[in-house]
Amino acid sequence: MIAEIEIDRIVAEHVERRLQWEPLLPRRRTGYTRTRLTACDTYEVLALLWFPEALTPIHDHGDSYCATRVLAGELHVARYERTEEAGAIAMRLVERGVQRAGDGDALQSARQLHSVANPGSREALSLHVYAPRFTAFGIYDESGARRSLASSRYDAVLG
Ligand SMILES: [Fe+2]
Repeated sequence: MIAEIEIDRIVAEHVERRLQWEPLLPRRRTGYTRTRLTACDTYEVLALLWFPEALTPIHDHGDSYCATRVLAGELHVARYERTEEAGAIAMRLVERGVQRAGDGDALQSARQLHSVANPGSREALSLHVYAPRFTAFGIYDESGARRSLASSRYDAVLG
């Protein structure tokens, strides 16, 4: 697993270059856009631009570690933990919180899930470090049952 100190360094590097990449992020009226800023063998860094009323389903990140840092606006995050014992699936809400500029979060395993929303009227911007890179992820309903397997896509690739 990638070390926390390494994540901090990666985030700091991308924050430092924010003026270069932020104007290039694709925009739309609703939902959110995912732009890859960096990719290497061990991780990738994405910038997510969240438009008003954007909302993700409850999802995992495959087997990847996921670290997030809010750079602007407010994101409402619900975190869940999913368990599967003897074929019985259960999911519990761990916490709901509001994350603002400077706040960081991390999901450490495939059992940790979240949903992210921008219910406000302003845009929000966040950085996401995924280690290793992932291409497929699960979408879940409130009971913890996996509804579908989705493939991650980029709205733009800058690096
Ligand atoms: Fe996520």
